[in-house]
Amino acid sequence: MQLTGKRILIGVTGSIAACKIPELVRLLIKEGAEVRVVMTPSSSDFVTPQTLSVLSRQAVYSKFYHPDGSWVNHVELGLWAELLVIAPASAHSIAKMANGICDNLLLSVYLSARCPVLIAPAMDMDMFLHHSTQRNLKMLVSYGHQLTGPSKGELASGLEGPGRMEEPEIIFSKILQYFTGLQKKRKKKVLISCGPTREAIDPVRFISNRSSGKMGLALASEFEKYGYSVTVVAGAGVEKPASLNAEFISVETASQMYQACMNFFPLSNIIIMAAAVADYTILEPEKNKIKKEGKKAFQLTLSPTVDILSEMGKRKTRQQFLVGFALESNNEEKNAVRKLKEKNLDMIVLNSLNDKGAGFEIDTNKITIISRNKKKVSFSLKLKTEVASDIFSFIQQQVHA
Ligand code: CTP
Repeated sequence: MQLTGKRILIGVTGSIAACKIPELVRLLIKEGAEVRVVMTPSSSDFVTPQTLSVLSRQAVYSKFYHPDGSWVNHVELGLWAELLVIAPASAHSIAKMANGICDNLLLSVYLSARCPVLIAPAMDMDMFLHHSTQRNLKMLVSYGHQLTGPSKGELASGLEGPGRMEEPEIIFSKILQYFTGLQKKRKKKVLISCGPTREAIDPVRFISNRSSGKMGLALASEFEKYGYSVTVVAGAGVEKPASLNAEFISVETASQMYQACMNFFPLSNIIIMAAAVADYTILEPEKNKIKKEGKKAFQLTLSPTVDILSEMGKRKTRQQFLVGFALESNNEEKNAVRKLKEKNLDMIVLNSLNDKGAGFEIDTNKITIISRNKKKVSFSLKLKTEVASDIFSFIQQQVHA
């Protein structure tokens, strides 16, 4: 059984194709999956909750409250799922999903879910071809969701054309493909460094920088979402988010970050150095707290740290994909391309300090990606979570090119 223990949530919306969903549930259960079903109120005109409950061996939900008045926790349902399959997805529900409208339980579950989403549209041909539906579907794809179908054929209206929901067997095979692909990816290891390092001046003071680690953490959760095995080496003060399962190594100094990164480097397929590693450390930190008594101006002697990314670039094999970051304030692109070449990277993510909303300690970023094969894409200002998704997609294209 290839789906043993896999948690699959099926969202059924109001379309005649809903009458085919019992077959999909049956196939999934037969393959060992745990299936739960959430229905929009109108979908029960086409298939009964009882049928889906019997086949899934679980209660089926469509309202925010159980018959006894207790609340159905849509967040819990959304977080429970490893894959959310919206099938059939009517034009109406697609429009609501694309625009964040949340007027029923299924849409609340959809907005709460952190897992990948597979959508099987079903509607009449002209509804499918309408500009608004096409635009809504494009929006859903831009959120990272996958579409299956619709296929062409005889429609409930009597028309012939695109709009038919994919047959349950096809949707089932897409679900199977998703989980087997995931298994392959799980074997793929990603190493992500993030956050600042701290270099001690004395036992209480240090030199550091303004990096928050947010960009690296967003990347970690993006890779995790798509099934990669993720290791995070996090600099000083970066906490592991509760939602992240990744192996999480906390370090403080540049030298500790070097050690930790190099331990995982040989095992990693994709390596992303998003950390703001100190370029210099204090040559001889004081063992005791420096007292101000009698001291006027004094000098700290700094010595260079090891450039971790350059070391990785020297040791990289053909199977590894190495990504660096560059934060620049002038000659941005020229400096980024120089770093890409000098450090032997496959790709560099450039942030400019001159771009408002980009850089440290904030939730947004504006990046340009430049690859070894001279592909360059500049993105608009976005949330770091969205930037992570752009970086993920770019890496995917490069790795599979
Ligand atoms: N980096 C690293 N080890 C260091 C310094 C930087 O691995 N000791 C990595 C960072 O994680 C980043 C990339 O190198 O991915 C570029 O860092 P950046 O500070 O922009 O560049 P530097 O090479 O340090 O050059 P400069 O500070 O002169 O711009």
